[in-house]
Amino acid sequence: MLVRITEVAPRDGLQNVKDLIPTERKVAFINALSETGVDEIEATAFVHPKWVPQMADAEEVLRRIDRKPGVIYSAIVPNERGLERALSVGVDKVAVLTAATDTFNLKNINTDIEGSFQKLIPVVRSAKASGLPVRGYVSVAFWCPYEGKVPPQRVRDVVLRLLDVGVDEVSLGDTIGRASPKDVAELLEILLRDVPADRIVLHFHATYGMGIANVLCAYREFGIYRYDSSAGGLGGCPYAPGASGNVATEDVAFALKNSGAEVRVDVLKVVEAAKSLGLPLESALSRIPKPIL
Ligand code: HMG
Ligand code: MG
Repeated sequence: MLVRITEVAPRDGLQNVKDLIPTERKVAFINALSETGVDEIEATAFVHPKWVPQMADAEEVLRRIDRKPGVIYSAIVPNERGLERALSVGVDKVAVLTAATDTFNLKNINTDIEGSFQKLIPVVRSAKASGLPVRGYVSVAFWCPYEGKVPPQRVRDVVLRLLDVGVDEVSLGDTIGRASPKDVAELLEILLRDVPADRIVLHFHATYGMGIANVLCAYREFGIYRYDSSAGGLGGCPYAPGASGNVATEDVAFALKNSGAEVRVDVLKVVEAAKSLGLPLESALSRIPKPIL
């Protein structure tokens, strides 16, 4: 099966980096990622600059990148103000935010689950009216740093509500990287009763070292073929204390290819792009001088 990768390093990978990275370095990074074979690049986030200072240059980033035909350049849009900003620079696709717990939503977007829907519903409507596809993120879909293990039924309710208000796909975030293949299997068993596999994207962080095992479980046992990952394993959420980076794009692509999947990502180009930032990398493949591919 052909795997679809959304490269989230320019957003999830950089949002937690304290020192501001010059816009031109971000633009060069995104341009390099455009040549790696990924399907989509989450380029930035139109969030409040006080909440996430690293994303303050969202307009500039989208304005200045070279857009490679066939690659989708998406961005996080948490509310209507964010959508105005995103539309002004021609984003290809928007991602709205909610979570499976009230506490995480309150810390991340200053409102509970109910309030998050009040913010995202008008964004979904206007984005669709402008012809844009919409992703809905469900953070803490397995474990919450504030509320612990999240019951799969609760996640399912949020997912169904997102689909009901018109999002095209749902990305399930293991925000703190604590999910195990058992947790993944429990959630997917419940979700796939109501939701087709092609509307589910999995977004694993690598904190506890189970990210790749989770990807392989979801692919082999449940036929999920859409993943978010971050070049070099960069990343973390400022509102999820202790969370490390996403699963690395090069490691995900390598693991899936070696499990029989069709993956059109050039892992060496991904490593090269990640190294260009000069940040410490977390991936396995970036540490092997001459990997046997
Ligand atoms: P708020 O303070 O509740 O916003 O923040 P508000 O609607 O009350 O507005 C307050 C002021 O902010 C107003 O200005 C607005 O215009 C302005 P004033 O009238 O006072 O001068 N404002 C904005 N300015 C620029 N851009 C905007 C915007 N919105 C309002 N979009 C808000 C609510 C959602 C904006 C804030 O909480 C926020 O920006 N949160 C984002 C947090 C974030 O980016 N977290 C990281 C991404 S999520 C993540 O990493 C998880 C994920 O990777 C999946 C996973 O791993 O689970 C996706
Ligand atoms: Mg994330």
